[in-house]
Order: sequence, then C-alpha cells, then structure tokens
Amino acid sequence: MNKELVLVLDFGGQNNQLIARRVRELSVYSEVVPYDIKYEEIIAKNPSALILTGGPLNIMAEDAIKCDPRIFEMEIPILGICYGMQLLTEYFGGEINTSIANEYDISDLNILVKDKLLDGLENEFSVWINQSDSIISVPEGFIVTASSSSSKIAAINDSKRKIYGVQFHPEVKHTNNGTQILKNFLFKICNLKGDWNLADFIDEVVDDVRKKVGNKKVLCGLSGGVDSSVAAALVHKAIGDQLICVFVNNGLMRKGEIDDVVVTFKDKKEMNLVYADAEERFLSRLKGVNDPETKRKIIGEVFIRVFEEEASKLGQIDYLVQGTVYSDIIESGTKTNQTIKSHHNVGGLPDDMQFDLIEPLRLLFKDEVRVIGEKLGLPEEIVWRQPFPGPGLGVRVLEEVTKEKLEILKEADAIVREEIKNAGLNKDIWQAFAVLPPVRSVGVKDSARTYAYPIIIRAVTSEDAMTAKWARLPYELLDTMARRIVNEVDGINRVAYDITSKPPGTIEWE
Ligand code: XMP
Repeated sequence: MNKELVLVLDFGGQNNQLIARRVRELSVYSEVVPYDIKYEEIIAKNPSALILTGGPLNIMAEDAIKCDPRIFEMEIPILGICYGMQLLTEYFGGEINTSIANEYDISDLNILVKDKLLDGLENEFSVWINQSDSIISVPEGFIVTASSSSSKIAAINDSKRKIYGVQFHPEVKHTNNGTQILKNFLFKICNLKGDWNLADFIDEVVDDVRKKVGNKKVLCGLSGGVDSSVAAALVHKAIGDQLICVFVNNGLMRKGEIDDVVVTFKDKKEMNLVYADAEERFLSRLKGVNDPETKRKIIGEVFIRVFEEEASKLGQIDYLVQGTVYSDIIESGTKTNQTIKSHHNVGGLPDDMQFDLIEPLRLLFKDEVRVIGEKLGLPEEIVWRQPFPGPGLGVRVLEEVTKEKLEILKEADAIVREEIKNAGLNKDIWQAFAVLPPVRSVGVKDSARTYAYPIIIRAVTSEDAMTAKWARLPYELLDTMARRIVNEVDGINRVAYDITSKPPGTIEWE
C-alpha cells in the first residue's frame, strides 16, 4: 500500500515544523527534511506532495540556499510558501525583485482567480506575509491568483503541473483561512485520503524500533517528564523487557518526583527500572560554576557518564532512548536556525558517546506527545505533567547551584505547583514554577531585619513553547503563593512575578 506522505523541505523559516504539524492535524503524515536532502532520498521516501517552506534569506542573494532542481520535475504537487514560492518562480523562469526589508506584516489578500487552492474562500481576508522578495513576472504556464495590499503577486499557480505558490504563511494563526488553504492543497489538489492518525504513528514507531533493535538491549533515561515517559512507554511497547530504564537522581528534581517515577514505572508498569543515585556527583561538578551554558553541558555530560556506568553493569547495550521533541531540536539550532540555548538532550551530548540514539518523538510537538501518552495508557499525572527541562532545577537556581539553594527552591516550587493545582489551572498553564536568583535583599520578619533570597514565580501559557505569554494569574492566587512562600520557606523574604513573554524572554531563566 502506498502511504501518503507530504515532505516539507526546510529553508529555515521559524514556522517550518508548524507546517508539518498542520498537515498532520489534517490527517496526512508529514515530516520536515533539510532543504538539501539528496534527491535519491526524496525518491526513496516516495512523497505524495512537497511543500517548500519560507526562510530568512533572499533568493537573489549570493548565499541563497537551493534544493535539488530535479524536484520540480517529479510530477507531484508542490506548494511553495514565501521563499519556496520564489524558488519555484526562479526555476521556471519568472522574474523576482529583491527588497532589503525582510519584515512580516498582516496584509489584505485579494483573490483574483478562485483556483483549487483558494476555492471556497471569501474574496478578501487578512494574511501573515513577508515582503522580502517579490515576483515581478510569473513564469510561462503560471497565472496570478491573488494580490495583496503589499505585493501585486501574492499567489500563483500552474494548475496543469499542480504547482502552487503563496507569498503568505497559511500555517500561522494570523492568516485567516490558512487551514482551509492547506486542506485545499491536500485534498483538492493532491487528492489525498487523509486517513493517518497518531495511532498509526504509534504502530509505525513500534515497527521501526523492533526492526532497528532486533534482540539487542536498549537503555532509556527516565526523568518522569512527559517526553521521556512517553518515549519509554512507546519503546517498551515495542520491545518489552529488552528496554532497561535508568532513573538518575541528579539532585535537581522537584519535590516528590523521585517517588512518583518509581511507583509509576517500576511498580505499576512493571518496567525494568534501575535507580542511580548520583546527586553528590552532579553537585560537586557544578560547584563554583556560574555560566548557564556550562552548567547545561556539565549536567548533560555527567548524566551520560552515569548512564554509561550503569550500562556497563548491564552487559552489552547498543541503544539509548531519548524523549527529544521538536522544540528541543529547533532551540538547539538546526542547519538553518541559530542556536538560542543548547538543550541538554541535544547539544550537551559528549562526542564520544557510546550509544546509538532512538528518538521516537523528535518530530512531534508536546500536545501530540500527550495524545500518544494517553493512547499508551499512561496515567494522567504523567501525561499532563508540565514540561520540565532536562537540567531540572539546575537551571532554576541561577548561577552556582548548591544543595542549600536547591532545598529552598524545591520547597517554594512545590508551593507554586500546589496552588496552581488547587486553583484548577494545571491544564491551562503551560508551566508554573519558582526560580531562585543569586541576589539577596533586605526585609523584616517578627520585627527583625532579614537579608535573604527572593523567589521569582514564572507562569506562562503557550501552545508549543516556541512562544509564550506570561499567565494572567489572579492576584488572589499570587497573593496566596507569596504569603505561603515567605512564611513556609526558610531563607526567602520576598516574592516577585515575572511578566515577560517569550520572545523576548525565554520560559526558563537560564
Ligand atoms: P525556553 O526556556 O527555551 O524553554 O523558553 C522552552 C521549553 O523547553 C524547556 N527546556 C528544556 N527541556 N532540556 C529539555 O528537555 C533543556 O535543556 C531545556 N531547557 C528548557 C523549558 O522548560 C520550556 O518548556
């Protein structure tokens, strides 16, 4: 049977993975591949259609990036978005004008011809558009189907060849009718059935993992977070007892977390679970280290070393499962994206690591991972647990991490999470936690002067961690948290609330 697949060629735009995700939401399997993927690899994947993404470069620039031109002759439907549209215009012989401004804006789209792509839409609606390059004349065989208030040529097609281009971004929420446009492409132009769902994804991963692993042993670093838990459960479904989970206590976990993990996976799921207590080792390596990136690297490296030691006690182990999800990859920098922060399960891996990686979730967004977790029967507390960074509280005790500071932070953090839960906000808030900065301030308690640390409360709403808004928590709730923290946690005399969104802030402080 021919499986439906839409390949998204990534030219570096911020939203490229979102395109694949929107396509998957429309029940067609889609994955993102680098723009310079080998033509033979594309052929081997046998895609039903291609989408060429946007990107930060100008097509006429010297360093413009290009894909193998043979893709334009594959006789499968192609949708070029922004940079992707310029690429196909250039290939087929149209004319492009480059402008220096590379700005995004909301613009009104006017439909001139209701082709299959724009079928069923109103004549005018607003779209999210980039003005960097504009097409002056379309190639032979193409027609202009829409213009916009900022560019005369905003959508084009060669309907015979099923090649379409749009200057705007149908994948983002700011574009009205974006989903309908993608739907039209998939179902009216490509004639796909759209019968894929996340359960198929589970079956495919189970199949892949079985084939890849054979009868070898696989190790998994279980942290109790959604990602590693779902990854472990998925691989466990594939290979059962060949999977050995190692739970490393790095001393950087939240309060109560160690017990939760052991009960869920060892007692309830009856998985092979090794508990490695490496708290002292992590803390001694972190002693005196202030730089966030260095801390992340150290935590990542010690983690892997502990793993290797545990693995060596278990005989020959060839694979390591990691719960890397898409946002970890993009933030650590792909070929076409710059590094924002190195995430410990991507950038911090030592070069001489001895395992091959299995990363079954690397293409997915967090909410897709949760659906998979539910389908695998994981308990709600795990599936709906808020994201927690691999380096744990190590990046929430700012600058040097000490045991004393960790204890303070754990208590304050437990209060924040408990109050969010009591207020019934757990599922509405993406993450809510406490941060301990390396400063002290003066306060007064029981008529005496105090000189102690503040706690910063961070709570954000988000869909995928790529952007986030500070959560508009009720004042009463903030007040309860602040009172409790100052009263119940020794060493804290002040509480502040972080009201920065992402961007320009990040969710974590380090
Ligand atoms: P930032 O702080 O970059 O975080 O806005 C985005 C999301 O990623 C989580 N995060 C991490 N997850 N390893 C992880 O597995 C890491 O090193 C790491 N750093 C940040 C963060 O909690 C948020 O959900």
